Amino acid sequence: MAKELFGKTNDGSEVYIYTLKNAAGMEARITNYGGILVSLMVPDRKGKFVDVVLGYDSLSQYVASSPYFGALVGRYGNRIGKARFKLAGHEYALAANDGPNTLHGGIKGFDKVVWSVKDVDSKEGNSLALTYLSKDGEEGFPGNLSVEVIYTLTDSNELKIDYKATTDKPTVVNLTHHSYFNLAGAGNGDILGHQLYIDADRLTPVDSTLIPTGELKGVKGTPMDFTKPTAIGARISENDQQLKYGIGYDFNWVLNKKDTELKLAARVEEATTGRVMEVYTTEPGLQFYSGNFLNGTNIGKGGKKYEHRFGFCLETQHFPDSPNKHSFPSTELDPGQTYKSTTIYRFSTR
Ligand code: GLA
Repeated sequence: MAKELFGKTNDGSEVYIYTLKNAAGMEARITNYGGILVSLMVPDRKGKFVDVVLGYDSLSQYVASSPYFGALVGRYGNRIGKARFKLAGHEYALAANDGPNTLHGGIKGFDKVVWSVKDVDSKEGNSLALTYLSKDGEEGFPGNLSVEVIYTLTDSNELKIDYKATTDKPTVVNLTHHSYFNLAGAGNGDILGHQLYIDADRLTPVDSTLIPTGELKGVKGTPMDFTKPTAIGARISENDQQLKYGIGYDFNWVLNKKDTELKLAARVEEATTGRVMEVYTTEPGLQFYSGNFLNGTNIGKGGKKYEHRFGFCLETQHFPDSPNKHSFPSTELDPGQTYKSTTIYRFSTR
């Protein structure tokens, strides 16, 4: 695995980029700053490779300001309402970094820390193992949380992400990956023409601050129904209260599945290039975010401007605000238990 210096963080830590390759010519470049997937080269139907994830050319740009481009997100991906939760008789106060709520682990989440790199042997392909010890009290969360994330690029054109964590006190964990994809190539226009299928009959509707109300609501007859492949842009401007709250799609779908089986959650197709991406996960939920906050201020790789909806995210996860919603699948992790989760982004063409 090739390793090159990417730069230094503000406190002087050296950060590297690691390159994973597979037999088909795919290439993933990952940095141990935030566990960020910096680039992902994927072939189209003619065998032409382009980079399908949004990001920056330099470490300093990631450090200065990034809307979670390609990052590992934790300790709690998505929102915790009113920046607090109760667990094992204690109330924990977190930083409110998204209106009244906590988003993506707080002010300095796992997307902004330097991860350690561990050697790993995998039969499935080139792998990179990243570890991080999140100290008891970091960002307000209880328990020393020891986290391991393994990225593997397989010869079947899959980017596989295996997450593991253990704790020494009861805590909550919800880890995810935040790549912004554009299957026509990063910076090559908006994603409104991509056809999206999500295997979910329900979603968790939200209030105006994007915190779930607690209901599971059927998607049938609404712009949230992606049970048949539909262009992302086809209904995004409809007069719908949820779409107004999200300024587009920014919701958690309840995947049609039992327990923690690894199952197809979503498929996206881009007709002009023929690129197809499938998402498989062991998680019960999927946040589909249509890049609503991109506005051209982020100058991406190769100097390309990322305008409104130039990328979409499919963040596999437990449901938002689960620590305060006891009817949702639990995100609690106790000492002696191991948190485990797997997500695969599989690429093909048609
Ligand atoms: C997630 C959130 C969005 C937004 C993006 C990053 O998808 O749900 O509201 O914060 O991350 O901008």
